[in-house]
Amino acid sequence: MSGGNDIKGFITPNLTPHPDSRVYGWTEDQFINSFRQKKSIKESPMPWSSFKLMTDDELKAIYKYLQTVPAEVMPKVEK
Ligand code: HEM
Repeated sequence: MSGGNDIKGFITPNLTPHPDSRVYGWTEDQFINSFRQKKSIKESPMPWSSFKLMTDDELKAIYKYLQTVPAEVMPKVEK
């Protein structure tokens, strides 16, 4: 959950509740909206078009789960 994986040159973000995490401080609405928008990076390997189909309840469940994992610093990027 702490990210740092290099997928075709894209680094997966830290999703844990650490102050340095990409999603730190995001409200539930902000988190859900990030899945509702078109992907911000066209070439992103994250399957946004599929994940966009998740329901609000599914995304709320993921959001709530991510609040429960330990806060971690992103590990050194693996090449
Ligand atoms: C339920 C599973 C997942 C969740 C909750 C999740 C969540 C997120 C979030 C919140 C972001 C940041 C978006 C932003 O900055 O606006 C992100 C970005 C990213 N994710 Fe995921 N992700 C998931 C699965 C995946 C998978 C399966 C992959 C790769 C196969 C992936 C790769 C990436 C990458 C490379 C980025 C950075 C580029 C981008 O923002 O599009 N993620 N993810």
